[in-house]
Amino acid sequence: MQVVKTIPELRALRQKLSGTVGFVPTMGYLHEGHLALVKRARTENSAVIVSIYVNPAQFGAGEDFGAYPRDLNRDLELLEGEGVDVIFVPSDGEMYPPGFSSWVHVEKVTERLEGASRPGHFRGVATVVAKLFNMVAPAKAYFGQKDAQQVVVIKRMVADLNMGIEMVLVPTLRESDGLAIGSRNICLGPEERRAAAILFKALTLARRLGQEGEKDVDRIRRRMISLIEQEPLARIDYVSLADAETLAELDLIDRPALASLAVWIGKTRLIDNMPLE
Ligand code: PAJ
Repeated sequence: MQVVKTIPELRALRQKLSGTVGFVPTMGYLHEGHLALVKRARTENSAVIVSIYVNPAQFGAGEDFGAYPRDLNRDLELLEGEGVDVIFVPSDGEMYPPGFSSWVHVEKVTERLEGASRPGHFRGVATVVAKLFNMVAPAKAYFGQKDAQQVVVIKRMVADLNMGIEMVLVPTLRESDGLAIGSRNICLGPEERRAAAILFKALTLARRLGQEGEKDVDRIRRRMISLIEQEPLARIDYVSLADAETLAELDLIDRPALASLAVWIGKTRLIDNMPLE
């Protein structure tokens, strides 16, 4: 396993790799969810490249960029265990040198949900992922269902800009009470950690109502909201039932849909989602 910090070093190693390269972009502080992506990439490619970079451009003012958890040594140990070939750990100066002024702006699908709550977030995500794709030139890139809108945005960018990279979507890994595994879960105190299970409960409720034949989005949303409101530590940012492809809000569940939500548990904002068949 080789760990590199600069783009020229990364390109030099990349050129030596033959066969298909699978790429897993991350912000580090790795957990089983990230490792599920790495394991999948390992089974499907001759070589695997992982990036670890907490991208300042995708954090808004007042968001948790400074407080975002970091532990590079532990990350490297975990990746060593997964048989990763190359790890790219760039600095901010490497990624955004003085004079940097080109941004990737994906329209429409970035305007809702996370994009509405976090203005500029997807501009930062699309830009950094485009840069990493250009440096790594992978055949396949691995993303988690946990960040469903991110996948929609990156798929749109890959198609629109003819990047020719196959996007592989990996299901969300969860704790035993259903909480989606996430780097920010570490920020939850014991009481908050218990309360955080409410996101999964609300999504499961939506799925059950859908399976029972409920089509009316208002009724499903109201049931989800009143369930979450029973949890005193939870504060809703949004609860959405949207077209799974376009992420446009639905009135009726009459096509493949995505239930998604963002909920504050104390000072920690958690997101989760579930496809509704
Ligand atoms: P990060 O939050 O570190 O996540 C890296 C990848 O791991 C994403 O594709 C995310 O969806 C996936 N992931 C996180 N938790 C998961 C879980 N419980 N189960 C399955 N997959 C999970 O997402 C980012 O970083 C950044 O926006 C990035 C794409 C790296 C650009 O900066």
